[in-house]
Amino acid sequence: MDLELSEEQQALQKMARDFAQREVAPRAAELDAEGTWPTDLVKQLGELGLMGIAVDEKYGGAGFDNVGYSLAMEEISAGCASLGVIMSVNNSLASDPVKKFGTEAQKQEFLAPMARGEKLGCFGLTEPMSGSDAGTMITVAERDGDHYVLNGSKNFITNGPHADLIVVFAMTEKDVGHRGITCFILPTNTPGFTAGKPDEKLGIHAAHSCTVFFENCRVPAANLIGEEGKGFKVAMATLDGGRIGIASQALGIAQAAYAKSVAYSKERTAFGEPIANKQAIAFMLADMATELDAARLLVHRAAYLKDKGDVRHTKESAMAKLYASEMAHRVTHKAIQIHGGIGYTRECDVERHYRDARITEIYEGTSEIMRIVISSSVLKD
Ligand code: CAA
Repeated sequence: MDLELSEEQQALQKMARDFAQREVAPRAAELDAEGTWPTDLVKQLGELGLMGIAVDEKYGGAGFDNVGYSLAMEEISAGCASLGVIMSVNNSLASDPVKKFGTEAQKQEFLAPMARGEKLGCFGLTEPMSGSDAGTMITVAERDGDHYVLNGSKNFITNGPHADLIVVFAMTEKDVGHRGITCFILPTNTPGFTAGKPDEKLGIHAAHSCTVFFENCRVPAANLIGEEGKGFKVAMATLDGGRIGIASQALGIAQAAYAKSVAYSKERTAFGEPIANKQAIAFMLADMATELDAARLLVHRAAYLKDKGDVRHTKESAMAKLYASEMAHRVTHKAIQIHGGIGYTRECDVERHYRDARITEIYEGTSEIMRIVISSSVLKD
C-alpha cells in the first residue's frame, strides 16, 4: 500500500476542499440552525462529479477509486457533515449495490442518473423493530406475476424525504431468517410509497431522514437486485463500503474541530500568554492530531482494500468506522474544552461538530455492532 496520494487523488482532494471551504462551510451553521435541506449544494455535488465518485465513467460516475471517495467525503464533511452524509448515502448505500450486483439494464436506468447527481438515492434496511438485528425485518414482498408487491415500513432513512430512488430490503420468504430477504430498487413515485415527516435529531440537521411506507407498492421483478433470497448479503456487502463513507465523514468532522482548536489556542490568551503555550492545551492538541492520523490510516486502508475488488474488507471497514467515529467524539469533546464557554454556544462551530459527530457512532452499524463484526473475525483467525 502506497501511503502517498496519487496526483489524481490530490487533485480530487483539492477540488473537494476548495468547494467545501468556499461554498459549503460558510453556510453550515445556518443550514444546521434552520434544518434546511441544501438543495443547491446537492445539485453542485452532482455537477462536480461527487455523487458517483467511484462509479465508472460509462455509468455517469467520476471514475475515481475509493481512496479518492474517502478523501472527498472527508473534505465535504469538514465543510458540513449534513452534506457529507447526503453524499455518502447516494455514493455508497444507493449506488454500490446496483454497481456491484445490478444488471446492465439496472446500471443504465438507476446507477447512471444517481452517479450524475440527477437522481438522489436512499437505502431502506432499518425498521422500527429491526435495527442492529437487520435480519429480522418484517417488510414483505410477495410475487404477483411479473411484479412483487411490497408492504411495510422503514425508518431513519437518510435522504428519504427527497430521494427519487430507494434500495429496499424485504422478506420474499417467511421462516428462513435472513435467507428470505431480497433487495429491490424502486422509484419513490411508485404508487403506494410515502415518506413521513423529517425526524428531529440531535445533529446533522440539514440531512433529512424519515420513515417511509410501502402500501401495496408494485415493483417490477426486473428491479430485483442480485438474487431472490440473497438480499441480506447485498445489504452487508453494501455496508462494508458505506462504513468507509461514514468513517470518512467522522474524519472530516474531527479535522474541522481540530483545525479550529489549533487556531483558537494560538489566538486566545489567558494568564498572560496564548493558551497553546499551556501544556494542558498542547497535549490535548497532540492527542487530537495523533488520533486523527491513526483513524485516517485505518480508513484509507479499508478504502484501498475495497479498491482491490476481490478482497473482503468487512473487518477493516468495521475497524475504520469504529475507531474514526469514537475518535471524532473524543476530538470534538476536546475541541469544546479548548474553546471553553464559547465552545458550548452556537456562536462557535465546535458545538455543531460535537453534535454532528455523535451519529457516526450509530448509523450504518453502531460501535457495538462494529465490535461484534471485528471480534467474530479475529476469533476466526
Ligand atoms: N458481506 C457478505 N456477506 C456477509 C457479510 C458481509 N459483510 N456479513 C455477513 N454476511 C453473510 C454471512 O456470511 C452469512 O452467510 P450464510 O448464511 O451463507 O452463512 C449471512 O450473511 C449471515 O451472517 P451473520 O450470521 O453474521 O448475520 P447476523 O444476523 O448475525 O448479523 C450483523 C450480523 C453484523 C449483526 C448484521 O446484522 C449487521 O451488520 N447489523 C447492523 C445493521 C446496520 O448496519 N444497519 C445500518 C442501517 S443503514 C443506515 O444507517 C442508513 C442511513 O440512513 C445512513
